[in-house]
Amino acid sequence: MKNKSIITSILIAILTLTVLSQSCAPSKMIAQKSGAQLWGENCIRCHNLPSPTDFNDVQWATIGLHMEDRASLTETEAEKIIDFMKSAN
Ligand code: HEC
Repeated sequence: MKNKSIITSILIAILTLTVLSQSCAPSKMIAQKSGAQLWGENCIRCHNLPSPTDFNDVQWATIGLHMEDRASLTETEAEKIIDFMKSAN
């Protein structure tokens, strides 16, 4: 009887760890994406894809914050996109 409950506890622990590690998978995938990728996937959802050369670095910093809000991006995603926009100038 005692052994059975120990085995059950271990199985529940393994199951919990599996679920937890799986639920982290999508955020890991986002973390691996480059600014250019995130730009291509997100900034075309509502309007034409803006070219990095359309605005200067100062303007991109402001636009980036504005669009972070509009596009519901995480801070990390927005930072990567803004860095990409700036680097292409
Ligand atoms: C949820 C919809 C949405 C997404 C996603 C979105 N935008 Fe926008 N964007 C807008 C709207 C609406 C406007 C115009 C009104 C405003 O400025 O709020 C706009 C305006 C702009 C402008 C100004 C255009 C001009 O000629 O003045 C730029 C630049 C821009 N977005 C860049 C981006 C970038 C870069 C991204 C990706 C990070 C992005 N947008 C993602 C909705 C969106």
